[in-house]
Amino acid sequence: MNTSVGFVGDFREAAPYINYLRGKTLVIGVAGSLLAGEPLKRLAADLNLLASLGVRLVLVHGSRLQITATLAAQGRTPAYHNGRRITDEAALQLAKQVSGMLRSDIEAALCSSISQTPQRSKPLSVASGNFLSARPLGIIDGIDMGYTGQVRKIDTESIVNRLDDGALVLIGPLGHSLSGKTFNLSMSDIAEACAIALNAEKLIYLIEEEGILNSDGLLMTNLSAQEARQLMAQQPPPPQLRLIQSAVNAVENGVARTQILSGRDDGSLIRELFTRHGAGTSVARDSFVNIRAAHSDDIPNITALIRPLEEQGILLRRSREYLEDQIHTFSVLEHDRHIYGCVALKTFSDPHSGELACLVVSPEAQDGGYGELLLAHLFKKARDAGMTRLFALSTHTGEWFVERGFQTASAQDLPPERRRDLIDSGRNSKVFVYVL
Ligand code: COA
Ligand code: ARG
Repeated sequence: MNTSVGFVGDFREAAPYINYLRGKTLVIGVAGSLLAGEPLKRLAADLNLLASLGVRLVLVHGSRLQITATLAAQGRTPAYHNGRRITDEAALQLAKQVSGMLRSDIEAALCSSISQTPQRSKPLSVASGNFLSARPLGIIDGIDMGYTGQVRKIDTESIVNRLDDGALVLIGPLGHSLSGKTFNLSMSDIAEACAIALNAEKLIYLIEEEGILNSDGLLMTNLSAQEARQLMAQQPPPPQLRLIQSAVNAVENGVARTQILSGRDDGSLIRELFTRHGAGTSVARDSFVNIRAAHSDDIPNITALIRPLEEQGILLRRSREYLEDQIHTFSVLEHDRHIYGCVALKTFSDPHSGELACLVVSPEAQDGGYGELLLAHLFKKARDAGMTRLFALSTHTGEWFVERGFQTASAQDLPPERRRDLIDSGRNSKVFVYVL
């Protein structure tokens, strides 16, 4: 029976993430619209589960939907500027009421979902308090934003003390100034500031959408900070713009990742954290895909990539000794620290000729452009080494090379030592050449 699919495969995939997250701090910002009914129950259950795995949790909640709904029920039109609420005296009173109610609802949900976490005998303790100070946003474009505020300072020490005690820290969207005034703040500003101040491993935003969507409405699964900046230049709608900006600020200030995903789909948070591909958008400072020189620790991964193809006769069999001896000629493609492909550059006594060998992309990652990236990498490596001609020998993949600019060649074109090998191997491979 193949045990690598289904539960066993999923568990094996999740195990490294379970170990990696133990003791790490996650700041989770959740939109107010997700703080009722099923989404709240599921969030509470997932938070209990994460806490039981030793993850340190800071939950920052929003209250936009609740304030807007109450204002509407009172026949008042909410006022916004640049996507931010303009908070007058009455809206501030509402913000305080709503914040208190939401805190109570979240605490209750965390208590009731405890039954799903068998090893916990008592509810996760929740710590709330004055963990941040605020100041007014002031006058923006000539508009007085009233009691809308911004984060002034995060009391990191108090939060860390509560986390050390094993509590989940719950922070609402209000802050107080040193003069004793209360301000209405945005959930994303607070979550970002907390994640940076705490040097959190992750900043997570739970929102209504699947994640950050491109102009065709399709989910963007991975973004480097640079790609996220390019996206901002395309002027996405203000709520997404602010999340992307916040994601970039966080990853450029020490947070390893910002992950933006649906808080409505059951299981999104768990899939995002414990699977390789996640569920929403993951933003990191650097690009997720990296091609680097291989080293001997990579041999087991390279072997796992090439063995099935050797068995099918697509690649020539390479022994462990050969790989150890030639590992310096290999490059590997990593996505999120997992190896998905490799390629080697063989050299000959003629310094102007080289050979692309052992180009493989693992089956689950094919057709995503990794083959093309490995090829571009090898072209550069060959050019940097002063080569002018790159050969490729293939029994099955000729078309792929031809479509990428290789020309058919003959055994006579190969450097003499390779010509002899080809005849000895009896594989009758076709020869292709690329002029660099
Ligand atoms: N012949 C022709 N085209 C092929 C092909 C083949 N043998 N294998 C894949 N393609 C096409 C795919 O259909 C896809 O076409 P599309 O873009 O029109 O949908 C395209 O190549 C995918 O390109 P890309 O995503 O850049 O490549 P990849 O990451 O899937 O990797 C290989 C391409 C060839 C490296 C990968 O298929 C592989 O590992 N194959 C087995 C090993 C092998 O044959 N290696 C070469 C021997 S040196
Ligand atoms: N589980 C991993 C993590 O939490 C990978 C998630 C990848 N997510 C994505 N949207 N691409 O870092």
